[in-house]
Amino acid sequence: MTHTKILGTGSYMPNHIITNQDLAKIVDTSDAWITSRTGIKNRPMTIDENTSDLAYQAALKALESTDISAEDLDLIIVATITGDYVLPGVAQLLQRKLGARMIPAFDINAACSGFIYALDIADKMIQSEAYRHILIVGADILSKITDFSDRNTCVLFADGAGAMVLGPSKEKHIKAIQTFSKGDQELLLYMDSYPLKKNFETPPQARPFVKMQGSDVFKFAVWAMPYTLNKLSETSQIALDDLELIVAHQANERIIRYAAKSLKIPMDKMFMNIGKTGNTSAASVPIAIDEAVQSNRLKRNQVFGTVAFGGGLTWGGAIIKY
Ligand code: UT7
Repeated sequence: MTHTKILGTGSYMPNHIITNQDLAKIVDTSDAWITSRTGIKNRPMTIDENTSDLAYQAALKALESTDISAEDLDLIIVATITGDYVLPGVAQLLQRKLGARMIPAFDINAACSGFIYALDIADKMIQSEAYRHILIVGADILSKITDFSDRNTCVLFADGAGAMVLGPSKEKHIKAIQTFSKGDQELLLYMDSYPLKKNFETPPQARPFVKMQGSDVFKFAVWAMPYTLNKLSETSQIALDDLELIVAHQANERIIRYAAKSLKIPMDKMFMNIGKTGNTSAASVPIAIDEAVQSNRLKRNQVFGTVAFGGGLTWGGAIIKY
């Protein structure tokens, strides 16, 4: 049977940095509040690139870290909620920018869990032996859909992209992977789309922004993370204690601390870069995995856990031998 292996990773964050002090000038907030409630100090925000540009930079780095080139790719999947266009998708723009062949390329929307969903789909595609080399990317420019007069959301969100190149392997590297959704909580975290039309009239539309019931999402997150990691541990028969590292969605440092406490995992095993990244949505997990790899915190053959949650509600995770 064919299994899936991570061949390489890459990430990209814009150089333009917004500090807590910058935000305190536009909304009623402070560095002390943001730092103590979220762990965020700085967040990258692009001013002159679009989502496919960020995805392209991350994908180039991921490909450079492997011995395959863009022409070897059989499939591209991009997880995003902030595409350059509603159509075409970011995946097709990325296909052109990379000079990939005429292969399938598509976007998926599972909010901040999108990258785990992409990994789950790609893993099954490789196992089916229909595809060998798959590029998966999480890319978002949340600053495009952030209301900078809403202090409940604007202090959290950021822009970035992370990528992973996957290939076939005889050994089972993805020890367990599971994704979940629960569609009865849509208004906890959502953004309006096009209004319905009555009698063919075209009403003027106010620009839509992300809206969030922060404390309810917080409660969901501190339940979803332990739930997922325990399930993965059960399926893979790998104890959480035996994981080298846990790379969680970087939404709030307090969420990560709560989850670690309830799972009795020491904090030095919880990868954390939120202080300088903010919440980059679908890009958060692949950026963090790439940073763990680049900093040698995650080495070849070590087994790590990853977990994410987001709008939908969606959540999921994986236990992987890198
Ligand atoms: O990517 C996945 C989706 N997102 C998340 O995972 C986010 C999950 N939620 C959170 O991270 C937290 O709920 C927040 C960081 C959004 C908010 O923190 P909190 O500790 O849950 O605060 P809260 O919403 O309960 O609000 C506490 C107080 C309120 O004031 P009052 O009513 O007590 O007077 C808020 O108005 O904090 C106020 N507040 C702020 N104050 C200063 C909310 N945002 C801010 C702010 N600066 N930026």
